[in-house]
Amino acid sequence: MDNPPPLRSFGRIKSRVIKPRQAALMDSLLPQIRVPAEPFDPRALMPEAAQVWLEIGFGGGEHMAAQADLNRDTLILGAEPFQNGVASALRHIDERGLSNIRLWDDDVREMMARLPDACLERVHILFPDPWPKARHNKRRLVNAELLVELARLLKPGGRLRFATDWADYADWTLERVLASGLFAWPAERADDWRVPPADHITTRYEEKKLGDCAPVFLDFVRA
Ligand SMILES: C[S@@+](CC[C@H](N)C(=O)[O-])C[C@H]1O[C@@H](n2cnc3c(N)ncnc32)[C@H](O)[C@@H]1O
Repeated sequence: MDNPPPLRSFGRIKSRVIKPRQAALMDSLLPQIRVPAEPFDPRALMPEAAQVWLEIGFGGGEHMAAQADLNRDTLILGAEPFQNGVASALRHIDERGLSNIRLWDDDVREMMARLPDACLERVHILFPDPWPKARHNKRRLVNAELLVELARLLKPGGRLRFATDWADYADWTLERVLASGLFAWPAERADDWRVPPADHITTRYEEKKLGDCAPVFLDFVRA
């Protein structure tokens, strides 16, 4: 028998009405840059790409678009089921004239299953839904299964960046990543997780300061 689908890790998939210009991009641009619905090699989507990164839960796409703008030779795969977020990301992609982003407008885990081993240099999980109530913790995106899948997809030496402003989610993630034995955590002093990494770009959700602690940045390396 097939395994049951994973628990839903996201909240709403739509809120307010999408503005006409963004709705038009959902019809025109999204089909052009949506990743294939069957197994695919990301290198084939941009053969000249020096690296391939994945951003999980890009929200409104501000961070993803800014990174893609700064790293034009990198292909960024972005996944986000929240339709208003996808529409906003399309606007950023269009306004900045970016040709190095491909999107999956649904659960990232569906897309990850279609990717080949060791195809990514970097993964960003920035300010994921915190699910702070104990009875909801099991909905958190970070769990043992996700870590095994990320380890499969990252090249040896590839990097996983996790950021949160919920103290309990930082502890939760650190505990699971270290227990997995699949990643090294090269941090040596508090500033290594308290100070944003030099190449971090503040995200929209981070700016809202909705958590219960200052942002924590955990940069792991695929062992
Ligand atoms: C709290 S928001 C943060 C958005 C953005 N990273 C930021 O910092 O502004 C978390 C996002 O992750 C998305 N998300 C949750 N589970 C996901 C999944 N399984 N696949 C892709 N995105 C997911 C949610 O829809 C939501 O937009």
